[in-house]
Amino acid sequence: MWVEADVANGLPHFSIVGLPDTAVSEARERVRSAIRNSGFEFPLRRIVVNLAPAERRKEGTGFDLAIALAILKASGQIEREIDGLCLGELSLDGAVRPIRGVMPRILRARDNGIERAYLPAANASEAAALGSESIPLPHLRAAVEHVEGRARLVPAPVPPAAPEPSWDVDLADIAGQDTPKRALEIAAAGGHNLLLVGPPGTGKTMLARALPSILPPLEPDEVLLASAIHSVAGLTDPDRPLLRARPFRAPHHTASRLALVGGGVPPRPGEVSLAHAGALFLDEVGEFPPGVLETLREPLEEGAVTISRAGSSATYPARFTLVAAQNPCPCGRWGDPEAECTCLPDAIARYRARISGPLLDRIDMRVAVPRVPYRELRDRRERETSAAVRCRVERARARMRGRFAGTRRRCNAEMTKREVERYCELDASGERLVSAAVSARRISARGYHRLLRVARTVADLAEAETIASEHAAVALLLRGEA
Ligand SMILES: Nc1ncnc2c1ncn2[C@@H]1O[C@H](COP(=O)(O)OP(=O)(O)OP(=O)(O)O)[C@@H](O)[C@H]1O
Ligand SMILES: [Mg+2]
Repeated sequence: MWVEADVANGLPHFSIVGLPDTAVSEARERVRSAIRNSGFEFPLRRIVVNLAPAERRKEGTGFDLAIALAILKASGQIEREIDGLCLGELSLDGAVRPIRGVMPRILRARDNGIERAYLPAANASEAAALGSESIPLPHLRAAVEHVEGRARLVPAPVPPAAPEPSWDVDLADIAGQDTPKRALEIAAAGGHNLLLVGPPGTGKTMLARALPSILPPLEPDEVLLASAIHSVAGLTDPDRPLLRARPFRAPHHTASRLALVGGGVPPRPGEVSLAHAGALFLDEVGEFPPGVLETLREPLEEGAVTISRAGSSATYPARFTLVAAQNPCPCGRWGDPEAECTCLPDAIARYRARISGPLLDRIDMRVAVPRVPYRELRDRRERETSAAVRCRVERARARMRGRFAGTRRRCNAEMTKREVERYCELDASGERLVSAAVSARRISARGYHRLLRVARTVADLAEAETIASEHAAVALLLRGEA
């Protein structure tokens, strides 16, 4: 995208063409004031600014700086060429203000061979982290002085790499719960979705929060994409523009649909996109309004969300592992051998129906998180640490990388149906087990493919080439169908 300005003789007039949204139109007022208040002359002639290419929708306030510089150049107040990407909002006094979404624009500019960027000082580290020469601009005047070579600005330093991530919860902190821990490991390795169901205080939230500690590290292209999404949302940490760990997003059940899937003007990515390449945790999933949960179907199926608004639409990546937690009934005691549930049967049915069939069908593992017996809570023997589990997860991921080399897929949950047929070969006893379960328990076709994907991950964690009955059995058990 580029900005060109034409200043011609004629009655004073200033227009911006090329599909600007309202924020770009308001740029006229900001640019006019910023130019004057920076000690330059706003030409009282016919000014036409063209944002090209015209068919691409432009949004936001980031064009102010480029428009102002183009006008100053076209009116002879800047003599030298401006070589680089110019981004920034101008305040009326000419200060260059930070904007959202710098990173994806830097990446696109780099693809086009543009390796220098003029940016608001607060955004400068985003370009520097990506390897561009990043000139931080406090003010429009400083930008001109720099371009004209009168007072050079110092490029922003490359921000130091973030330290090793550390996690709040380690699997070793959690007593008992071997089955949920196993499910968590499978979810981390294969990217499968997981529902944890159990009475209050048994460690559901704790288990979910331990997931980041066993996820494999981000791959380099995932770092760029996930960081760019955070940049568009305005959530970049200037000291650490690049994400180090996989995202773990835990929106509250009062979060709006907009907050969850994204939208607005200009559009912002929602939680599902911020969770891209990581995990989305819905605690107390039954408390989310059903309409909000339904909106998860598209990202769960497509790995992306499309936000449509009048005249345009934006698509953001949204491929995440879903972890949800729920009590078994409103009082939380259903199925607890040591406490009596006081809920009426239809209250329980209504409570469970809050996660609808189609959504439930996209959850690969539904695991009970029971009360932990006192002796297990007190057990002081060493428990397996997250670091040890992460090693297994990384080995399983390496197998998947080999399997999916040359495709865009990274983990078993992303396999296409054809790939399921190709890679999820069952041995004879595995075949018998699965076919019996399918015919007896009315697993849907989607459920069947999901089951095989999970079984593939169980086998990968065991470093097995074909899926044996013991792997299929684990997948069935964790699906809640065994
Ligand atoms: N298995 C466990 N091992 C060690 N501590 C546990 C375990 N389960 C629960 N706790 C302790 O109890 C606290 C509450 O656990 P947590 O919030 O994970 O329960 P929950 O299942 O999410 O409950 P709720 O249904 O009320 O949300 C934890 O902070 C932890 O201190
Ligand atoms: Mg909880």
